[in-house]
Amino acid sequence: MTPKANDQMAAYSEAAKSGLYAKHSGMTGKYDNVRRLWEDEVTRFFLRPHLHDLIERCRQSMRRVRILDLGCGSADGYELLAGIRDRDADLQQVEVNMLGPEVLGLYKGMDLNDDLLAQADAIYGHHPKMVFERGDFSEGLPIGKTEQPYDLYFSSFGTFSHHNDDETAIRLLTEIAERTEDHCLIHCDWLGRYSYEWQTLWTHDFDERRNMDYVVSYIYDKTEREARRAELQHLTLRLICRREAEAIACEASKRSGVEIKPLCFYDRSVFTGRHMDTGDYNPHAQPIRAAVNSLHEVNLRTDLNDLLVDYVPKPGFDFLNEYYEHAQLCWNYVVNYVKELLDSYVPSERTFSKELTKPPAACPAVVVETLDRMKRVVEGTGWYGMGLPRENVIEPQLGYALRYVVSHLQQGQGCGHGHVGIFEIDRS
Ligand SMILES: C[S@@+](CC[C@H](N)C(=O)[O-])C[C@H]1O[C@@H](n2cnc3c(N)ncnc32)[C@H](O)[C@@H]1O
Repeated sequence: MTPKANDQMAAYSEAAKSGLYAKHSGMTGKYDNVRRLWEDEVTRFFLRPHLHDLIERCRQSMRRVRILDLGCGSADGYELLAGIRDRDADLQQVEVNMLGPEVLGLYKGMDLNDDLLAQADAIYGHHPKMVFERGDFSEGLPIGKTEQPYDLYFSSFGTFSHHNDDETAIRLLTEIAERTEDHCLIHCDWLGRYSYEWQTLWTHDFDERRNMDYVVSYIYDKTEREARRAELQHLTLRLICRREAEAIACEASKRSGVEIKPLCFYDRSVFTGRHMDTGDYNPHAQPIRAAVNSLHEVNLRTDLNDLLVDYVPKPGFDFLNEYYEHAQLCWNYVVNYVKELLDSYVPSERTFSKELTKPPAACPAVVVETLDRMKRVVEGTGWYGMGLPRENVIEPQLGYALRYVVSHLQQGQGCGHGHVGIFEIDRS
């Protein structure tokens, strides 16, 4: 039976009160390094060109951008969107954010959880263009009859998976389409049906396993997680792949008589989802997120062997096994190459002690390009000669290199922790 939305709020309240939802925690917690430096950034990467066009459109019609964040939590969506930077900025520019004060008209965050809304209000309540409201998006579009429509309907980090029943998602999209006068973007963020983290849940029959019992176990480290196992909060969350997301948008288009056009689908956190570390849904899952968090942690040295993925295929799912094995080989190739660079670089002589391995002809261009960049990074530390080059220069750059490779290899099929669809309505 589908639970009522309100019944699920205890999980978020507990998370907020635990203090582990506090910002900037680095190695653990909601805002760990992977969240801030991978997940937020990858979301920005895919949204950037569409937000750019949206801002341009508003500029042409002499309007500012209105944003509705559905399930805003403590205004995380605002922080994510406000951090989208202009890619063409030169090195001298200081103001590089696309959603500057002259562009933003209104950010309205709505959520059903009072604790998170209070946190949002405490941080941003003073901001003249930000408002927060309590509402339940599973009961329809939470905007008043006289309220102007929005330019961007945003959701982040699996929030659309709270539509356990597709009917509520279809209704929400239908109402957005009906309320759109001219144009809007919709960013729908679900949990990916085929994330490696929950390989035991993979199925060919979409009706069989629509929602997962998602344990909020990741907010604690291993010891505390096991000690508190019985009292951990659970969420019921919809798992989705691209075909199902397209079907939801298609049905809403039919009902509203307005085209809801998919612009892009992407998979976020392919090997780095939070449940890789807990192993709660896959006995073969390795703590890759912890290793990537370590890469980005200041002054901390990472054992690069902890980054090597050993993907275990699931019989009967060849289309997924093929994708994952290729992604794993590319990922590991980059890690092993950096290990080789570290083994053979002689900083005092600013040279490598041996000839470096050449990638095979079948190596994808994105990997070859990444290897070359990493070689230059390692060589650069010899010239720079300051600080802790491995911990604070090479390791974070390896993190960005791996992020670059998986983001380019992802296929938007539902193989990440997050599966996101960006849609457009254009009635102009
Ligand atoms: C996965 S969290 C995402 C929070 C935040 N947007 C972020 O990016 O971190 C999902 C959010 O949706 C809210 N939520 C869940 N069901 C809801 C509903 N039916 N109506 C409104 N908000 C809801 C939760 O309270 C929570 O803040």
